[in-house]
Amino acid sequence: MSSQSWDVQQYQESASFVPQLGTPLLQLLAPQKQEKILDLGCGDGKLTLEIKNYGCEVIGVDSSAEMVNAAQKLGLNTEVLSGDSLKFKEEFDAVFSNAALHWMVNKNQVVAGVYKALKPQGRFIGEFGGEGNIKHLVTVISDIFQDFPEFGDFKNPWYFPSVAEYSEILTETGFTVEYIELIPRPTPLKNDVIQWLRIFANGITNNLTKEQQQKFLKEAESRLYPLIYSKSEGWVADYVRLRFKAIKNS
Ligand code: BEZ
Repeated sequence: MSSQSWDVQQYQESASFVPQLGTPLLQLLAPQKQEKILDLGCGDGKLTLEIKNYGCEVIGVDSSAEMVNAAQKLGLNTEVLSGDSLKFKEEFDAVFSNAALHWMVNKNQVVAGVYKALKPQGRFIGEFGGEGNIKHLVTVISDIFQDFPEFGDFKNPWYFPSVAEYSEILTETGFTVEYIELIPRPTPLKNDVIQWLRIFANGITNNLTKEQQQKFLKEAESRLYPLIYSKSEGWVADYVRLRFKAIKNS
């Protein structure tokens, strides 16, 4: 079975925009001193540390042991736990999640676990890929798998819902949605698209041989070039964020 793996060094060198662009979400969280906050999909802990620095008690969870290890080196309280197996009960004033929920395809289970983890009236603040996110990247990847049947089937590992879809999941679980919005956010890549694919899409190609992986990357680069590259801006990923604030009803 293919599965995504995380190279912390490559991530920190080439994808530092992920936590850096988290400031508006931190503002929506508005952490208060001594609040207890769960950072769901904490990654390397950069934003977890910022929340802690507001004077909060923060626990970070992530399904990647490599990322959790990096976060622990920042002195954070973190553990390896996937979003669909949360085990907390009415402990947190808020659950925060940046750029992680699109990896958690068992979305109903995830939202139910968040609901359970929150105190009554607790808030769930998140931002992740929404409807139309990385449309060019997904289309090109899918087309390449179709054009090279020897690569096998393309299994899309991501979940990018619309406002209506995600609002329904939140509401049916017992949240009141206070705010939810799709925000197109074209995101310049520090390095090239091949590096982005190596960091974020390795789970899609890890069943291929090394030669097939090289072929995939070269093919993707040349097909994406006319779509998301320009001389003036370089490579720009077509990100669309779904940002929301929801309150647990009771
Ligand atoms: C995102 O942040 O939207 C994203 C990042 C990597 C893969 C898929 C989506």
